Amino acid sequence: MIIKSAEFIKSATAPDQYPETALPEIAFAGRSNVGKSSLINCLVNRKNLVKTSSTPGKTRLINFFRINDEAMFVDLPGYGYAKVSKQEKKKWGPMVETYLADRPSLMGVMLLMDIRRQPREDEFLMAQWLSHYEIPGTIILTKADKLKKQARQKQLSVIARDFDLPANSFILFSSKTGMGREDVMGVIEHLIMQENDD
Ligand code: GTP
Ligand code: MG
Repeated sequence: MIIKSAEFIKSATAPDQYPETALPEIAFAGRSNVGKSSLINCLVNRKNLVKTSSTPGKTRLINFFRINDEAMFVDLPGYGYAKVSKQEKKKWGPMVETYLADRPSLMGVMLLMDIRRQPREDEFLMAQWLSHYEIPGTIILTKADKLKKQARQKQLSVIARDFDLPANSFILFSSKTGMGREDVMGVIEHLIMQENDD
């Protein structure tokens, strides 16, 4: 897929605010500060389509972007950030789970995780939701540029073991260097095409 246009459509917190569209949708999930907005910008080759921030927890709404009249990309609010208020934290779970449960056009979720971390409750919860709602998920290990090759491979095997998945099911990614961009696009194209086959 060659991305010719990428346009912000709207922000939403609840289903009645989701845009009405039949376009196949791909969502991006992960902890605050993991690089969700940067990954979307990297995929669409735009620096600032999606606001990025060094202050974690900026994206607190579900943001919808239309790609080429072919697909929608959805930037989900980041979870697990300690400094947001308790009230906001309480809202996060239902907001994201409702989206996953109530969006028939959702074709797949890219679950992002910082390659330097180990998966915790947040990641396992998201993986559980995906499996429960039968939504295809791909785990993307972000900020891969922060580790040297050997350390990267080591972290990959630790994370793969924790998820009990084969190492080759993960994508190593860096929005700084573009590493993994083609792999992510390949997965997304595949998911979007499945919808057209139905
Ligand atoms: P929230 O919207 O708060 O949930 O964060 P986010 O997941 O959208 O993260 P965002 O894309 O805003 O990136 C957070 C910070 O990490 C920014 O300072 C980015 O410049 C930095 N960052 C993102 N991706 C990478 C990467 O691949 N490599 C490096 N070195 N830094 C990155
Ligand atoms: Mg963001």
